[in-house]
Amino acid sequence: MTSQATKVGVFGSGQVGETLANGFIKHGYQVMRASRSPEKLAAWKAGAGERASTGSPAEAARFAELFVLAVKGGAAETALEACGVKNLAGKVVIDTTNPLADAPPENGVLKFFTNLDQSLLERLQRQAPDAHLVKAFSCVGNALMVNPDFGGTKPSMFICGNHSAAKEKVVEVLVRFGWEVEDMGGAEAARAIEPLCMLWCIPGFKQNRWTHAFKLLKK
Ligand SMILES: NC(=O)c1ccc[n+]([C@@H]2O[C@H](COP(=O)([O-])OP(=O)(O)OC[C@H]3O[C@@H](n4cnc5c(N)ncnc54)[C@H](OP(=O)(O)O)[C@@H]3O)[C@@H](O)[C@H]2O)c1
Repeated sequence: MTSQATKVGVFGSGQVGETLANGFIKHGYQVMRASRSPEKLAAWKAGAGERASTGSPAEAARFAELFVLAVKGGAAETALEACGVKNLAGKVVIDTTNPLADAPPENGVLKFFTNLDQSLLERLQRQAPDAHLVKAFSCVGNALMVNPDFGGTKPSMFICGNHSAAKEKVVEVLVRFGWEVEDMGGAEAARAIEPLCMLWCIPGFKQNRWTHAFKLLKK
């Protein structure tokens, strides 16, 4: 399947939804962007070109060959329900979410509502057992998600998920989006990947530095 043929559903009216929807359009995909109130995406649709459309979460899930969940972490399970779990069966679902608690950061360190023995991705995968969830894009700020410029160095994107073919499709996307992909294995690896968001945000909260990305050095 070529990227031109791939239909992508993006549930996310926030910055991540917008950035990734625009990234997919830039790379030739067809995108249906979703919100519980799709009318609030009208201005985006008007400016995003002929490959862009909007809809409800369930409409986007039905439309999608590849789906992106870009919703508030604390609402991710409710959001998945709104998509209709059966509409995502057999499909690749990129999970960008982070399990941020409502409490404020403590000395620059975000608080999570999960723990080190259970990630949000695992909870979502249990909720939608026939969907093929892949964690990606969770460990970098949205401004750097699509073709970030680090002077020729490709930053690392950590991914995980239980379905190998789904991860291959996500790798294809990430390579187009300018990333070197580090596959950390099955869904449990999200217990380690999701907290990278906490680490990524510390220089932001402490020094207002938001323009970095992780790089795994190897030899
Ligand atoms: N911001 C970043 O740079 C960044 C970077 C990496 C990862 N992330 C993660 O990516 C996700 C999206 O972040 P964001 O900053 O773009 O936006 P956000 O404000 O965290 O989420 C906005 C989205 O959440 C949905 N939502 C909120 N409450 C809901 C509920 N009760 N039921 C169903 N849906 C609900 C909204 O749906 P409606 O459209 O229907 O209102 C909207 O589409 C988050 O999990 C975040 O932690 C963010």
